[in-house]
Amino acid sequence: IMSTISFSQNQKTLRIGHRGAMAHVAENTVESIQKAVEMNCDMIEIDVYKIKDDSLIVFHDAVLERVTNGTGYIEDYTYAELQPLWVKGEYKIPMLSQVIEAIDKKAILNIELKGSDTAEKTHEIIRSFLLKGWQKSDFIISSFRWDELKKMREIDSSIAIAVLTEQEPLEAIAFAQEIRAVAINPYFEKLTPFNVQKIKDAGLLIYPWTVNEYTDIRKMYELKVDGIITNYPERIE
Ligand code: G3P
Ligand code: CA
Repeated sequence: IMSTISFSQNQKTLRIGHRGAMAHVAENTVESIQKAVEMNCDMIEIDVYKIKDDSLIVFHDAVLERVTNGTGYIEDYTYAELQPLWVKGEYKIPMLSQVIEAIDKKAILNIELKGSDTAEKTHEIIRSFLLKGWQKSDFIISSFRWDELKKMREIDSSIAIAVLTEQEPLEAIAFAQEIRAVAINPYFEKLTPFNVQKIKDAGLLIYPWTVNEYTDIRKMYELKVDGIITNYPERIE
């Protein structure tokens, strides 16, 4: 079965929902992911941590305070202990497996390895879905933790990887090539016509984050990036 979505589409900028569709529904919840699917995202970005009972959960911050009624480090909790908590008053913290089921292959899932020691468990969960009809191309792994990306490549020689950086993106090219990444995901303010050309010449795709304002989105079109990570999926044509 051929996947209908690919990592780059001629002339089209991929619409990439950030933490689901976080401008519309609470970030990194099943409901936010469903919203992003309804909004026809080509790709949906989420963040994962491995917690105390080895569950892989979808959450952005290291601590619970900003978006939940809990306190302290998320890694110190078990999944059962997180269940009574709410996210933004009405949602739950999901497991990675629930999010994969919610997308159901309708978009590529960009899994950002936010926590430490997340590569191996993430790959174990992906493997369980490969046995149930999902394809490797339904996933792309990203991280600012280049050590985790390296581990991911050691575990899997072909899964798609994107190297996250908030510094000058040229400094990520050598590493991206070393681990045979498909993309560099730069902080959008760091992009220039010069470094975009260098990244393209290196054979890498470019998915900048997190681009929300129309003026900035327009600049990204002019630079001909391959996809745009945004809180407002409806703003990407
Ligand atoms: O994937 C890119 C972007 O999500 C990185 O920033 O802090 O939102 O995870 P952050
Ligand atoms: Ca992220």
